[in-house]
Amino acid sequence: MSRNQAVLEAIDQHRIKLRGAAQLRGELTVPGDKSISHRSVIFNAIASGEAFITNFLPGEDCLSSIECMRAMGVEIELDDTARTVRVKGKSIRGLTESAEVLNAGNSGTTTRLLTGLLSGQNFYSVITGDSSLRSRPMGRVINPMRQMGAQIWGRKGDTLAPLSIKGTTLKGINYSLPVASAQLKSAILLAALYAEGETHLSGLIDSRDHTERMLKAMGAPLLVSAEELVMKGPATELIAQNVSVPGDISSAAFWLVAASVHPDADLTLKNVGVNPTRTGIIDVLGEMGANITLINEREVAGEPVADIRVVSAELRGTSVSGNLIPRLVDEIPALAVAAILARSNTCISDAAELRVKETDRIATICSELGQLGAILEAHPDGMTIQAGAKLRGATVQSHGDHRMAMSLAIAGLLLPEGEELEIADYRCADVSYPGFWSDLEKIIII
Ligand code: S3P
Repeated sequence: MSRNQAVLEAIDQHRIKLRGAAQLRGELTVPGDKSISHRSVIFNAIASGEAFITNFLPGEDCLSSIECMRAMGVEIELDDTARTVRVKGKSIRGLTESAEVLNAGNSGTTTRLLTGLLSGQNFYSVITGDSSLRSRPMGRVINPMRQMGAQIWGRKGDTLAPLSIKGTTLKGINYSLPVASAQLKSAILLAALYAEGETHLSGLIDSRDHTERMLKAMGAPLLVSAEELVMKGPATELIAQNVSVPGDISSAAFWLVAASVHPDADLTLKNVGVNPTRTGIIDVLGEMGANITLINEREVAGEPVADIRVVSAELRGTSVSGNLIPRLVDEIPALAVAAILARSNTCISDAAELRVKETDRIATICSELGQLGAILEAHPDGMTIQAGAKLRGATVQSHGDHRMAMSLAIAGLLLPEGEELEIADYRCADVSYPGFWSDLEKIIII
């Protein structure tokens, strides 16, 4: 098949136009993992010694974490690409009060992790962010923090940012996590580093475990078992650790979906993190019939890594629920694109968390993919996606949500000849995947 129009065309600063691609081919190295990048800076900032972080994600969210730590006196240097970072640790008690309000931008991870960290400092802090962040639930972190003795206030009955935190001496708690949130788990573990006595976490602790891995590697007094996490606070010292950040599987997910559903695709994704708490998307696409192979599996800086080859396949629908959800929570917008092109229906449930992400993703997935001709029915905790949609051109909105912008772009690559997709507010992809649009151009054959 040959087509003569460019697949990708920026209309202006905010809007981009896409057409279907005849083939997808090539090799990509996706940028560093967002979760690991945040943690590598925040944890090394309170460690003793100096750390070099390579393949750091220079996305806006992780840069917010850097700015917040700098505001508390931490010396952090970036190279020209912002992918190599040097953090000079201040040691566990060495942070200093910021003269400014801490600005977490769009980043829930920065806000929640720092809420835990700031609760146990001997100074006062205020943390805020953009309008999306200021609408995201913070009560889930404030409640256990208060049980530990923290003094925190926020808007709307202490549930929304800006948050005002008067650091104090904390005490360990026994806490059963009511939501499978790694941000919540990490916030409590960071506070527990400073608390007197043991903190025991149980309940929904099966979410991404990068915090546990990195804190243990730094020598934190943390015991991990399948049933509970125990921090024996207060910690006296963390030892700075160099981190080589693996590629982000949440970014690789867009290419895994695009190549699986495109009729003529063969892509290889190099150096992708395949931590089992994050590989739900590979398992679900596999169940749907995708042709995905992990090559050269290895361990880098305590995290499993592999290259991944994905070629076209015919997908069938599936059901996704229960403890699979935290293993692919960020990949559901991309998965929905796979589902609309599958041969049978897909049902996603137990995913009410999607309603409190950067946007209400259940609503935005259903409305925007619906514009393209897909039939989706929203439920309070998920959605049903009808198979076999005949995609048509449309004008759609990312609603400022990076993962929505990229999922819509993938859907655009699958349009039939003659159809066009216009995506408004497309540049928010930079929040987690700077270089997304040029990577997209690299793999397209028209
Ligand atoms: C993250 C955890 C997830 C995820 C977010 C990053 C982290 O949020 O959606 O993009 O780095 O801990 P929750 O843990 O709140 O589900």
